[in-house]
Amino acid sequence: MAQGQCERPVVLVGLMGAGKSSVGRRLAAALGRDFVDADDAIVEAAGMSIPDIFEAYGEPAFRDLERRVVLRLLAEGHGVVALGGGAFLDPAIRAEVRRRAVSVWLRADLETLVERTARKPGKRPLLMRGDPRAILRELMERRYPVYAEADIVVDTGPGPIEGVVRQVMERLAACERMR
Ligand code: S3P
Repeated sequence: MAQGQCERPVVLVGLMGAGKSSVGRRLAAALGRDFVDADDAIVEAAGMSIPDIFEAYGEPAFRDLERRVVLRLLAEGHGVVALGGGAFLDPAIRAEVRRRAVSVWLRADLETLVERTARKPGKRPLLMRGDPRAILRELMERRYPVYAEADIVVDTGPGPIEGVVRQVMERLAACERMR
């Protein structure tokens, strides 16, 4: 990790249901920083929900909007940013995260993702295209090698998310000590 990187904005990546927003919100509070959720910023920019954007304009248009919004958020320099699950797959976003932020992959097992995403059915258009478990398994295969480029990896499972927040804080503190 590059020197001085630990005080950069923290960007959370990982699959749907990994807990990026919940962990991000608590992490920001613990660090005394502001928090922004990229999906919420996209909804605000579009004036419509994510399922509605997918339905009305299709996934490529969503990805274009996501890229523009996330690059703006990164330029604004927020303290903690939770990205939508697909954002880190975009090369321009990944390059900018690498340049400006410290990235944290919340790595979750399939059961955890299936269980957590099932709590909010209808919220994630990608999982409405078929069997959510099969889709999540396929996304894990495709995306985990890319998420693995993140600076820090923290495993998350069925336990309370406070433990995950603590682990992220410890890893950031370790980065601080390395300077
Ligand atoms: C997506 C994840 C979602 C949202 C959109 C697409 C993805 O965000 O951006 O439905 O491609 O994985 P969460 O990861 O916050 O659910």
